[in-house]
Amino acid sequence: MMHAMTRRQRGAAAIGLACAMAMFAGVPATAHAATAGGSPAGAGDPYFPLAGNQGYDVAHYDLDLDFTPATHVLNGQATISAEAKKDLTRFNLDYSGPAISRITVDGRDATYSQDGQELTVVPAKRLKSGHDFTVKVWYGGVPVTIDDPTLGIYGWIYTDDGAVGLNEPDGARNWYPVNDDIGDKATYTFRITTPNGVNALANGEQQGPPCVNGDRTTVTWNERKPMSSYLSMVAIGKFDVTNGRIGNLANVTAVDPTSDGDGAVLQSTTAEAIAWEQQKFGRYPFDSAGGIVDKSGVEYALETQGRPVYDGMPDTDTIVHENAHQWFGDAVTPKTWRDIWLNEGFATYVEWMWDEEHGGPTAQSVFDKYYAKPAGDKFWKLKTGDPGRDEIFSGSAVYYRGAMTLHQLRTTMGDRDFFTLLRTWTEKYRYRNVETKDLLDLAQSISHKNLKPLFDAWLYTEGKPAIP
Ligand code: ARG
Ligand code: ZN
Repeated sequence: MMHAMTRRQRGAAAIGLACAMAMFAGVPATAHAATAGGSPAGAGDPYFPLAGNQGYDVAHYDLDLDFTPATHVLNGQATISAEAKKDLTRFNLDYSGPAISRITVDGRDATYSQDGQELTVVPAKRLKSGHDFTVKVWYGGVPVTIDDPTLGIYGWIYTDDGAVGLNEPDGARNWYPVNDDIGDKATYTFRITTPNGVNALANGEQQGPPCVNGDRTTVTWNERKPMSSYLSMVAIGKFDVTNGRIGNLANVTAVDPTSDGDGAVLQSTTAEAIAWEQQKFGRYPFDSAGGIVDKSGVEYALETQGRPVYDGMPDTDTIVHENAHQWFGDAVTPKTWRDIWLNEGFATYVEWMWDEEHGGPTAQSVFDKYYAKPAGDKFWKLKTGDPGRDEIFSGSAVYYRGAMTLHQLRTTMGDRDFFTLLRTWTEKYRYRNVETKDLLDLAQSISHKNLKPLFDAWLYTEGKPAIP
């Protein structure tokens, strides 16, 4: 299961067009056939080899989601805009959600087949390299939540009064067809329809007021900055929403009224954490911020882009952590899951930095506490830079030792260069994907020091590193 830190472990104007688009017409059944041969599935991730696909690049997901909490039925219409990267007679998507009834490519019916999480689509006409194309997928039914023996519960998760989509690492396919490659960032539109009186939130900014059509309400959210699919999120249910600001930045917080969430504290602590983080790491990378407390029972918080989701009222360190991810993880994202320490090590180290500036222990004393663990302790066993698929959320190897690696880097580079590194990293690689080598190169160019031995010892060697 997960070993993340204990603290986190519980821890009317628009009617015409918007309503028209959200209306669900009956989906015509279409003949489809299995196909054989063709391009490889998977984008080559060492830990999630089936995730993602080659041959095309998604620009935008437009997700029409109609959800009924009482029946758990999710009806979806996903419109995916992509560019072919080579000539394609067929291509794959990742999908393990409810039954598909129809797929079109550029408006023409396509044939398709499913094998595990691989959805193979054969367009009526070959797609030409360099050309844009549009895939539409109609689907409906009751999603089956992913429950992984080591990674826990994720994907489409039911709550007492709704559902929440929490995807890290590969759960997006549980509720929409996706190129689930951590490196294929795209913008998103979520058009969510529910029974009247049920709220729906998602990443990004709400577009106009909710639109009521008979007994159903539709609300639209747009994420305008590039987002990796594991960070996409919807939260459906009853929420008390607070619309605040952090300077010019909208701060949308929402609390499930039946949870232990305190809307005022969530709003003010989120504002405080982000204001401090902006001073350290540069401007907030997305167009709005916030946070959502929902009783999901997942036993973790998640740094969903622009608006983390908490499974209960978070403490300050958790709010600092999930918002630190907005810079480290969400804006600057690893190329593969092997480099997860670039997310979790940084977010954990930001907690240590926050604590030392807010009357808590110094980062050095936290480092010392963990460093005191004897060389034979299993704390030192895994490689932080390659922990293995089942250990991507390992509290010791990824979170703490990731943060310790950064602390060692700080003491070696000196505070001035280290803080320049953090700021330059987030600025230089914003909205892009990175690997550990990019961090090493940048750290070396800022400090003019050979940092390779430090990276090797702390990230790629089993056992307790010596301190020179
Ligand atoms: N990234 C989350 C955090 O910062 C943890 C996600 C855990 N996800 C999971 N499927 N167990 O704490
Ligand atoms: Zn984290």
